[in-house]
Amino acid sequence: MSLDLLLGLQWGDEGKGKIVDAITPDYDIIARFQGGPNAGHTIEFDGYKHVLHTIPSGIFNKDSVNVIGNGVVIDPAIFLKEINGLKKFDLDLHGKLLISKRAHIILPTHKIIDATSEASKGKKKIGSTLKGIGPTYMDKTGRNGIRVGDIINSNWKNKYQILKEKHLDLISSFNQDVDLSLDLLENEFFEGIECIKSFNIIESENYLNESINNGKKILAEGAQGSLLDIDFGTYPFVTSSNTTSAGACSGLGVPPNKIKNIRGIFKAYTTRVGSGPFPTELFDSTGEKIREIGHEYGATTGRDRRCGWLDLVALKYSIQINGVTELNIMKSDVLSSIDKLYVCTSYNLNGEEINFFPYDINSNKIIPNYKEFKGWDDDITQIKNEDNLPDELISYINYIENFVKVPIKLISVGPDRNQTITRNR
Ligand code: GDP
Ligand code: IMO
Ligand code: MG
Repeated sequence: MSLDLLLGLQWGDEGKGKIVDAITPDYDIIARFQGGPNAGHTIEFDGYKHVLHTIPSGIFNKDSVNVIGNGVVIDPAIFLKEINGLKKFDLDLHGKLLISKRAHIILPTHKIIDATSEASKGKKKIGSTLKGIGPTYMDKTGRNGIRVGDIINSNWKNKYQILKEKHLDLISSFNQDVDLSLDLLENEFFEGIECIKSFNIIESENYLNESINNGKKILAEGAQGSLLDIDFGTYPFVTSSNTTSAGACSGLGVPPNKIKNIRGIFKAYTTRVGSGPFPTELFDSTGEKIREIGHEYGATTGRDRRCGWLDLVALKYSIQINGVTELNIMKSDVLSSIDKLYVCTSYNLNGEEINFFPYDINSNKIIPNYKEFKGWDDDITQIKNEDNLPDELISYINYIENFVKVPIKLISVGPDRNQTITRNR
């Protein structure tokens, strides 16, 4: 009778998709609660590598039900592509995927607003994925949005036309040329709408609460990461939803007192894609080495991910905001063969040492203080038992655990579902 959460604790791409897929057998229902196709969640098994954007990462387990919650924003065109991409896996998609009536829809003009707005910002751009996320959430909070429940009614197209006209005025005010054809976008949009309509569109808050009351186990899957949260992230270089644990309640309609475990996922180092502050960023050959070995290129946009050392001040902050009860460390295999490792244990701000993640993180005045660790050479990607991991990695993990005071219960040593070590403690 409970709900567990799985959240990214950094700037996204921590490996949420891999872990959700790996632990789905422990759950009856997997539910995405926020974000949209700005997310790219990668899953690897049996030689397949698959990236999901809107569909929850439990989809590959034949017995699981997957819910796209009310807090998610859906791009019909991308949704259709995702459905087509899953056909080769012989899954009963219509039987196992449910969509909330209250989820908002990304319109073609939301994508054009995203592109023109970013272009108009020049060097100050957010580095958005240009999937129309920000403009869609703006219409949601501005009370203008179109929801999945609307498209089942025949008169929704009037509402669409009115909103589209309003958007076109806004787009022309940016005075930017972008390479997007509204006609082409609309063709794929309306095709996608028909695809969404072929699915089970429900009051998912009722379904999820009844399922909890009937003893089902639910896992809420987060997208992005805590440092991209609209309230607590590195604003304005954030996404437009609450990526933290409170977002699971508002994004699914489940009350906080039903939440049991809150699983926080973090990489053994840090990455960030897009603009914004990143105190421990590496600009040298070590940063490039991490990018190359870790294949740190965006799963949604293909952009280079910026790489840097693990930041324990930021990690502690995310743990606090989310109430994390258990940690999973990802991609520790990527650090093999790096001579010396560093983790940030405090910042200097205006000549003063601080131990918290400050409001003025965006200033250039943050200087990280580091602790040094000896690296290891061994290839750890085939190790199945914690006892066989190099001592240096165990020291690294123990230090993190002691610093943040939350147990690390899982160590990921490769992208495949099976390259996962559960700690026996
Ligand atoms: P998500 O957005 O949090 O689901 O993460 P992404 O899929 O965007 O990025 C994580 C990347 O790291 C993907 O390419 C995964 O296949 C890969 N990955 C996940 N866990 C591990 C790991 O432990 N080791 C390695 N080498 N790769 C991993
Ligand atoms: P997953 O779920 C990493 C980043 C973008 C940009 C900022 C705002 O795969 O971890 P948006 O398109 O939301 O307006 O972009 O947020 N961003 C992500 N970075 N992983 C993601 O998702 C992201 N989703 C958005 O790069 O800096
Ligand atoms: Mg990703």
